[in-house]
Amino acid sequence: MPRTIIVTSALPYANGSIHLGHMVEHIQTDIWVRHQRMNGQTVHYICADDTHGTPVMLAASQQGITPEQMIEKARQEHMKDFAGFFIDHDLYYSTHTPETEHYAKDIYTRLKNAGLIAVRSIEQLFDPEKSMFLPDRFIKGECPRCHAKDQYGDNCEVCGASYTPTELINPVSAISGATPIKKTSEHYFFKLKECENFLREWTHSGTIPEEAANKLNEWFKSGLTDWDISRDKPYFGFEIPDAPGKYFYVWLDAPIGYIGTFKKLADTKGLDFEQYWKKDTDTELYHFIGKDILYFHSLFWPAMLHAANLRTPTKLFVHGFLTVNGQKMSKSRGSFITAQSYLKHLNAEYLRYYFAAKMNSSMDDIDLNLDDFMNRVNSDLVGKFINIASRTSGFITKRFDGKLALQFDETALPIIERLYAEATHIKELYEEREFAKAIREIMALADLANQYVDQQKPWDLAKDESRLATLHQVSSSCIEMFRCLSIYLKPVLPKLIQQIEVFLKLSPLSWKHLDKKYALTAHEILPYHHLIARIDTKQIEALVDESKNNLTEKKNQQAQYAALSETIGIDDFSKIDLRVAKILDAVEIPEADKLLKLTLDLGFEQRTVFAGIKSQYQIDQLIGRLTVMVANLAPRKMRFGESQGMVLAAGDGNSIYLLSPDSGAKPGMKIK
Ligand code: MSP
Ligand code: ZN
Repeated sequence: MPRTIIVTSALPYANGSIHLGHMVEHIQTDIWVRHQRMNGQTVHYICADDTHGTPVMLAASQQGITPEQMIEKARQEHMKDFAGFFIDHDLYYSTHTPETEHYAKDIYTRLKNAGLIAVRSIEQLFDPEKSMFLPDRFIKGECPRCHAKDQYGDNCEVCGASYTPTELINPVSAISGATPIKKTSEHYFFKLKECENFLREWTHSGTIPEEAANKLNEWFKSGLTDWDISRDKPYFGFEIPDAPGKYFYVWLDAPIGYIGTFKKLADTKGLDFEQYWKKDTDTELYHFIGKDILYFHSLFWPAMLHAANLRTPTKLFVHGFLTVNGQKMSKSRGSFITAQSYLKHLNAEYLRYYFAAKMNSSMDDIDLNLDDFMNRVNSDLVGKFINIASRTSGFITKRFDGKLALQFDETALPIIERLYAEATHIKELYEEREFAKAIREIMALADLANQYVDQQKPWDLAKDESRLATLHQVSSSCIEMFRCLSIYLKPVLPKLIQQIEVFLKLSPLSWKHLDKKYALTAHEILPYHHLIARIDTKQIEALVDESKNNLTEKKNQQAQYAALSETIGIDDFSKIDLRVAKILDAVEIPEADKLLKLTLDLGFEQRTVFAGIKSQYQIDQLIGRLTVMVANLAPRKMRFGESQGMVLAAGDGNSIYLLSPDSGAKPGMKIK
């Protein structure tokens, strides 16, 4: 009996572009799905945009369109990006749909009937101008601990403190610039604690990776708390039944979007929906997610399903984060690469191959090193794989009318046998999501094939009329090796292998074709046409350049930019003593994510200043350069020492840019 499987990738937020981090997840999922399908299993691969929440609502209003218009535009773009990478979703839907609304309300009602919903009043910051409660990320103010200015409502980027927005000093709304007031309102909570016994058991029954289960133990130890699932209007989302003006928090309906999306697919395809979601189903459900959303998928989500008497996920497949050239993706370094920019310059399957060559079942981060990427693709795909066909198929076309020999060459047989025999192992590696190991094995097999070509030297055989029969068998053996390798690579390179199926005149290849029964003898093939090109350094450079210019992450940005501070007079301004300073030294503070300890030269004295710029600058980019500092700021005690002033930088919470004077300025000069 074939297995029946639902597979999901996490639902990308509608208010951002698809980038290569998302592609790690979708490529991993897609390879696994294609492997299952080649194995004859029934797989429904679904995904959708995650559409609800304050950011979408605000972004739409800024663009002068409705949230519905905004999310539909995003969905079209996202679908185009995924198609560009050959991601084979059966349905890419949305959470803002009647199906998801129905199940969100249904599951909520079941939780309520089970006594798992509590209602309590809480106090939050409220924007009196916009008449709305402010999410933490839309409030800025002074850190209550280190007094750094312009920090978000949930934590300080300078000293790393976490706090609640009501603790911020001089908070302002990032939406209107108004001073928020404290206001109470009723919120709805899911009593997670009451599901603790179930969760302890579920999370330790092989459903989540061992390393993640350990992390969960910490969460259990610190105690499960009630989860706030409501937001007050105005909010873009679904209204809570019998609670006018209250909406489901986006993370409540997002995972229910998996169910809603499947419902839509089931209706379209005539599948038996209940069969898949009832408690004792024998269908399987796998969620591919990043480690940042483990909490939601391993606690809230299974608890909700369990309490609503529905099936729980079979397993969570959790991956790490993408880094580019060893660092977090960064816009200023040109390593924040969107799917669209990548596709403009490079072949999608190169990235699929490179990611596959690095992926495993762990939660470790994955690095895209652009030099290594180019070398790896050029040497493996072009140099090893395609080369087998391009070096040998010409003889079949020119000398033998496109027809393969009746038999393989004797000396090729051990290699061909080995190519069939490795199927069990390599399939297992795909099944276990050990793609890097699978690729290593496959390339080792490609090495054997190339050694065979080098030994047999078909180009020499071709010069000798008396050895044409051998030439025919040798070249045909190589084509058989190439056919087997194509099957192995098919989950990773669907488009290329499809072209190869055309070239070899074969119907779609699957795992079962790795068998003597399907050996290509006495079969006609088409002339070889160029299939893939090497990557040129210029393409990589163009991609990095474009990504540098692409500094337009729109998230919250306009809202922040528009929020002007209160007007001040010239007297207020002239109290600030701004000076040119030279950075003499910059030292990392290991305990603080963002912080560098700078030694600044003012010409007449030196200062020590802590600055939250570590994410954006490397030490050697800083030492020796000029910047601007507030020289008369009262010294402040911080966790790591005393800060004697402040350097000036422009930032939006995502990136930060140090100010510097034009050349010619000298340390100590006053800025007027
Ligand atoms: N909308 C939520 C998911 C809801 S699922 C019910 C969300 N969206 S997201 O767009 O921020 O991320 C979608 C997926 O992409 C997540 O699994 C996330 O871990 C993954 N990634 C986002 N950036 C990533 C990297 N830089 N690297 C690898 N994966 C990353 O979270
Ligand atoms: Zn702080």
